[in-house]
Parts: sequence; structure tokens; C-alpha cells
Amino acid sequence: MAVLTVLKVPDPFLRKKVKKVQDITPEVLKILDDMAETMYYSNGIGLAASQVGIDMRLVTIDVSTEEKKSELLKMINPEVIGGEGELVMEEGCLSVPEIRDEVKRYKKVKFRYLDPEGKEHIAEDDGLIARVIQHEIDHLDGIVFLDRLSPLKKALYYRRLKKEAKKRKNELKM
Ligand code: NI
Repeated sequence: MAVLTVLKVPDPFLRKKVKKVQDITPEVLKILDDMAETMYYSNGIGLAASQVGIDMRLVTIDVSTEEKKSELLKMINPEVIGGEGELVMEEGCLSVPEIRDEVKRYKKVKFRYLDPEGKEHIAEDDGLIARVIQHEIDHLDGIVFLDRLSPLKKALYYRRLKKEAKKRKNELKM
């Protein structure tokens, strides 16, 4: 397994709608393992393949906390197939360093995905998993949580991130 590099805004790959997986090959399974390792290494609770520059609809999620253990979910071609209610909740993102803000999403979702064995799962959740799935599927469609904020906030944050990215680039040149 390997820890992959997590792309940061404004990397253009984060704007790409990535492709459905047609066959679950050993390469796909290896990427899912690497994504899980990268997610744990980065202390994230979810990761989308787009964030590590991979053009496939793959997501890993583990919402375990010290108090409450959850399971590692490896999802292939995940889709939200129904949503109910609304909930405003603070979000952060491994691709958007040091910014957290409140995002409105469905409270409860019904979703579908294939597991690494190719078995289809249809499930419902109204907790943290529901939140993370909506955030990660957005990544697969080229959307980051900043895009769900007011136009003013969005513009402000993007300007800040661009400035920081430029600073990082200049620092590397020294
Ligand atoms: Ni994210």
C-alpha cells in the first residue's frame, strides 16, 4: 500500500467529472487500498479518487471515532438515489486546507454502490455517513464544498487559496 498525494484547490483535476469504473480489476482494488491508507494517514473520514488524481468513481469512508468504531467502506460507482430533509453542518476537506464552513445538504440519503467484490449495496443513512457520501460524490463530479457556499464566501475563499498556492510555489523555488 502507499500514501498518495492529495491534490489541493485550485488544482484543475479537482474540477473534473471522473469516469465510472467498468471492471473491478486488481488495479482498482489496489487504488482503493491506497486511498484508504491515504485517508487514515491524513486523518480524513472520507476520500474521493479525484482528490488523488485518479479518473475513477471510487470513494473510501471511515467515520470511526475514539468512542465509536465504524467500518471502512470502499465504494465503487457510488450514487445518491434519494434525499430527504435538510441539515446545515460544518465541513472541512483535505483538498481545501484550513477552511471550514457550514454547508446545507440532505439530512438523510439513500445511496447505492458496488463493494470490492462487485456486490451491489443499497443503503440509507441520516448520520455522518450521509454527510460524507454527499461530500465525496460531489468530488467525483468536480465540485468542492466551497462551491456550495454563498457566491461571496466562495469568491473570498478561492482568492485566499489561490494566494496560498502561489506562495507555496514561490517557496519551492527558493
Ligand atoms: Ni473533500
